[in-house]
Amino acid sequence: MAEEQQQVFEPPESFVKNAWIKDESVYKEGEDYRSFWAKRAEEMIDWYEKWDETLVEDPPYYKWFVGGKLNASYNCLDRWIEKGKGDKLAYIWEGEDGQVRKFTYKELHKEVNKFANVLKNLGVKKGDVVSIYLPMVPELPIAMLACARIGAPHSVVFAGFSADSLRDRMTDAGAKYVITCDGYFRRGKLIDHKTKTDEGIEGMDVKSIVVRRGGNDVNMKEGRDYWWHELMEKADETCEPEVMDAEDLLFLMYTSGTTGKPKGVMHTTGGYLVGAATTMKWVFDVKDDDVYWCTADVGWITGHSYIVYGPLALGVTSIMYEGTPDYPKPDRWWEIIEKYKVSILYTAPTAIRMCMKKGDEWVNMHDLSSLRLLGSVGEPINPEAWLWYYRVVGKERCPIVDTWWMTETGMHIITPLPGVTKLKPGSATFPFPGIKAEVRDENGVVPPGQKGELVITTPWPAMLRGLYHAHDKYVEEYWSKYGLGKFYTGDGAIIDEDGYFWLLGRVGDVLNVAGHRLGTAEVESALVDHPSVAEAAVVGVPHEIKGQVPFAYVVLRQGYSPSDELKKELIGHVSKLIGPTARPSDILFVDDLPKTRSGKIMRRILKKLASGEEQIGDTTTLQNPEIVDEIHRELKDYLNK
Ligand code: PRX
Repeated sequence: MAEEQQQVFEPPESFVKNAWIKDESVYKEGEDYRSFWAKRAEEMIDWYEKWDETLVEDPPYYKWFVGGKLNASYNCLDRWIEKGKGDKLAYIWEGEDGQVRKFTYKELHKEVNKFANVLKNLGVKKGDVVSIYLPMVPELPIAMLACARIGAPHSVVFAGFSADSLRDRMTDAGAKYVITCDGYFRRGKLIDHKTKTDEGIEGMDVKSIVVRRGGNDVNMKEGRDYWWHELMEKADETCEPEVMDAEDLLFLMYTSGTTGKPKGVMHTTGGYLVGAATTMKWVFDVKDDDVYWCTADVGWITGHSYIVYGPLALGVTSIMYEGTPDYPKPDRWWEIIEKYKVSILYTAPTAIRMCMKKGDEWVNMHDLSSLRLLGSVGEPINPEAWLWYYRVVGKERCPIVDTWWMTETGMHIITPLPGVTKLKPGSATFPFPGIKAEVRDENGVVPPGQKGELVITTPWPAMLRGLYHAHDKYVEEYWSKYGLGKFYTGDGAIIDEDGYFWLLGRVGDVLNVAGHRLGTAEVESALVDHPSVAEAAVVGVPHEIKGQVPFAYVVLRQGYSPSDELKKELIGHVSKLIGPTARPSDILFVDDLPKTRSGKIMRRILKKLASGEEQIGDTTTLQNPEIVDEIHRELKDYLNK
């Protein structure tokens, strides 16, 4: 590593002076995690009734704030109006086409109340799961909060996912309602979303509510499809928030695991809100006058915790942007920061690397002096990108919080506290107060400097409460490898001599493509779904901007022969079944795949081959070692072409 990349960056004095958290005493306080979180729960959240017990540990199940009563939408909206902040902006939304919509807390409250009544009028009851399949439009948080208001868990499906992905998730969740839109804009193109939704819900007994955004012609099916704006016109403006139990389900979020089908991660109301609000306040150090912008899509956990629940639970003003960073020009983001005087920016390494590649001039043409804190999430940030972000975007004034967490954790787990932590570029630094983590392998905790797997050893309030209808899978994925009480993250990590955590990416069969999680098994099953494919193996290969991309090995069925057309067709097939993020970067047609004697595909070897590594390791235990040389040769020929 270059010398500058090993530099340690102290929090600037001016930042420390005003920071919520200025010294390390919070870590000491966190040693008793029950009392630590109980205190946060009192400070951050308004409860209708206080809990009887802070934490009930029954591994692998944990319950927080048991007996406590609250409502998430009340905490995100009503209480700010009651405290006299009703005219403060909650969201400034900017469409890719430049359209702007602003919502004060009062206005957002009104929309949420009305939509909560719309849902009720359509028959949605407390406990019914509602799917939301919307792009980045204000109706997305409005719909989520309306669900929370009436106690109907939401299940947001990222709008970029395919019709089949929507159907699978709705079926698994037993959802009878979906909120969607006609179309939306992406790089100036109008994307037809309604037709995709129709394909997804074809033949299902469901109702859909359609937001008008694109203005494109759509087919509305009588008795099934309803226009959002028509239902809203007639809706009453008051809907009393449902009194929810702390452990009632707030939402499901489907995410990729080691199997072909995504799993429904369950998050409950009380603990999740306490975790999201506490980290929002301490990690982003938000103040009343901040303008905060998280560039993630609300369809992922980052958007749930740090565009919707975290910021609103603190009464923050947030930016929400519909489009891509480089449309119409590569300075779109920097223009937005200047225009709205954004003070906190939270984004992903893949976007940082992309902006870095476009050149400093796009950043430098804007006045970014409003920025005071920068954040990163989604994948390891390489020191080079970290330093660029620090220097070119933050002008060496803004601390960077590199936050490590996952869908399952609901909130930041390993992260700096910007007024306290000395930063090392590329390290997510230390576990948040109240949380303990270690790096282990089969032999136990590994010594400093050595690679192992990251394990979280204390419960935390926003932790997942299980996988929807999948107890065995829950135990197998998270609590089997190192046992109960040691949450298995599936990430490789190193703790250095100073106790800093360095995250190394996923260790198993899960990829991280531009900050999006993708199971290799999902891509494989999409490939095998095509009539020409007998067998497929998918591995992640390094990519300059996206971090990782899927690369596929395909064995064809008899009667099919390799061709560029077939390759294109297969790539298109994966995109159709899962979504564009899952598209293999390339496909290599092979006669066979390397397998162990028990028939398991050796992806480890395939990964090394596809990444161009020369040291493949021992292949003698394989059933068919000769295939490794053959693939090696084919890959070389192929790359030389
Ligand atoms: O590999 C880690 C990576 O993202 C995974 C979680 O993905 P997902 O559930 O989609 O949530 C992403 C947003 C929280 C983790 O297992 N990851 C996330 N943040 C970081 C990271 N890897 C390194 N550094 C991070 N800051």
